[in-house]
Amino acid sequence: MNIKNEDKKYIANTYRRFDLDLVKGNKEFLYDSSDKQYIDMGSGIAVNSFGINDEKWKEAVIAQLDQLQHTSNLYYTYPQVKLAKLLSKKSGMKKVFFANSGAEANECAIKTARKYSSDKYGKGRYTIVTLENSFHGRTITTLSATGQDMFHKDFGPFTEGFIHVKADDIEKMAELIKSGSICAVMLELIQGEGGVIPLDKDFVLKTEKLCKEYDVLLIIDEIQTGLGRTGAFYSYMRYGIQPDIATSAKGLGGGLPIGATLFNEKTQDVLDYGSHGSTFGGNPVCCAGAVNIVNRINSRLLSDIIEKEKMIRTMLEGAKGVESVSGMGLMLAVKTTKSAKEIVAKCMANGVLYLTAKDKIRMLPPLDINKKSMEKAIRILKEACE
Ligand SMILES: Cc1ncc(COP(=O)(O)O)c(C=O)c1O
Repeated sequence: MNIKNEDKKYIANTYRRFDLDLVKGNKEFLYDSSDKQYIDMGSGIAVNSFGINDEKWKEAVIAQLDQLQHTSNLYYTYPQVKLAKLLSKKSGMKKVFFANSGAEANECAIKTARKYSSDKYGKGRYTIVTLENSFHGRTITTLSATGQDMFHKDFGPFTEGFIHVKADDIEKMAELIKSGSICAVMLELIQGEGGVIPLDKDFVLKTEKLCKEYDVLLIIDEIQTGLGRTGAFYSYMRYGIQPDIATSAKGLGGGLPIGATLFNEKTQDVLDYGSHGSTFGGNPVCCAGAVNIVNRINSRLLSDIIEKEKMIRTMLEGAKGVESVSGMGLMLAVKTTKSAKEIVAKCMANGVLYLTAKDKIRMLPPLDINKKSMEKAIRILKEACE
């Protein structure tokens, strides 16, 4: 099969693919159809938390496949409840709604915030504040939440009730929160698709305080930052805050699709019978895999992630062609003097797969990447930057 021709003929044109077919892998290694090996510094965009073909995760998934692949949410299933209980324990949240993707997890957060406000304050208090340069998904409503015009072109009209504020503009944020028309503020603490830019801590703490004071819900989008990625289970722990709603996906499933919306004491009972649902949400196989992933994100792994971040920063410090490194834990981006696209292509030719975010090179390697492979990948990156 000529995969490039067939792909072009049968697949919608939404993805600009690299000139690379991937057929298998093992841990941090991927292989193409000619058996060339690549070090994976992208993890399927922060999805394959413990790499490819991970034995422990696979065992959990296959064991569940042997039992039951799907029922519906009309019945109780054990993996779903186990996962919800574990997530609550690890996150400090109280209840969970399961969906299938990040965008859906955010849709649920948005619906919940609006219902919370409508139940308590009546109509009209429905607007959600998000940030410029944010990314919250591709459905019409999560696109409306997304503060980047390049994603909006051609798709209007949008869901009304979203305002985008400049990151760190606390005066504007305060004015809006106090206005009486806002039901929630929704933030990525590290803007991922926007270029791996961490928000200023003072801005985040002040926003949290204002939200509490004016009973405006704080939603933290942990879809890219969650599940240990930044060196804490969720990135809000690194900021020392506790949201009213948190959304999770990507790394949670370890490679199978799952999304989760987590609620605290204030929001746990907002959704009631019939107000939300999903056919596949909380699928037993996805949940069984996710239980395995969540159980393995322990303090040893988290401190290892922080150590690896330090190693990467040390290796790149002062390197020729490297302007700066941003991000947290194993969610990092490198600003280079040469074009990021050219560097990524060069690294690919030399057996390492990197991602880009805006004009930067982005890395999201498996959380347990072998240090030697990681060093090799960074060495190849450095050479490409020169
Ligand atoms: C912060 C953030 N929110 C939401 C999404 C959307 O997730 P999904 O593609 O699973 O719908 C993404 C995806 O990149 C993301 O990075």
